[in-house]
Amino acid sequence: MKLFLDTADIEEIRTVARWGVLDGVTTNPTLFAKTSGRSYDDVLAEICTITSGPVSAEVIADDLEGMLKEGRHFAKIADNIVVKVPMTETGLEAIAAFKAEGIRTNCTLIFTANQGLLAAKAGAYLLSPFVGRLDDINEEGMIVIRELSDIVNMHGLESEVLAASIRHPRHVTDSALAGAHVCTLPFKVFQQMVRHPLTDRGIDQFKKDWAAAQAALGK
Ligand code: E4P
Repeated sequence: MKLFLDTADIEEIRTVARWGVLDGVTTNPTLFAKTSGRSYDDVLAEICTITSGPVSAEVIADDLEGMLKEGRHFAKIADNIVVKVPMTETGLEAIAAFKAEGIRTNCTLIFTANQGLLAAKAGAYLLSPFVGRLDDINEEGMIVIRELSDIVNMHGLESEVLAASIRHPRHVTDSALAGAHVCTLPFKVFQQMVRHPLTDRGIDQFKKDWAAAQAALGK
């Protein structure tokens, strides 16, 4: 399973890239709003110099012409830009048009397997069900990941399921087990995946034992 970073923060992206585990980046207007003083285009261009993996850039327009204009503009920023389009009737139309132009898309705000199926048939490269936001309203977000992954594999669809709206490390494990092709997670969840109290305790113990052994040798 590929791991994407769900952020527009350049330092976070650089850090995870250095770890050697970064396969791509997803951004959205909310994540961009947390960065300051730069245009969305500038931020996207810099992200695309850090990773050669897919970088999702989200359209704001809700009419077809607007979506196509924004998406075509994003696609010129770098070869690895993927245009993020919401799951609406107009969004499906835009996805189909982008597909015909050779522009890859990420269909966002998917909350059911049927929405994902439609996006796949329209030609979306990535299908993004939002796990955490479903959990927030007392639904089981992981069911959508499992159902949609099964549908994509069973019918040989070309799209990839991207588990989004990830809140904690367990979501990552469960997305992998449910068959998601990609999981996009906040920086904090990447850090939580690295850490374990027994790892920390083990490192401390090894250091102490090493120091004791050196002392016994008179060093
Ligand atoms: C990613 O593509 C989504 O926009 C993002 O994961 C949404 O996460 P949130 O529900 O935490 O805002």
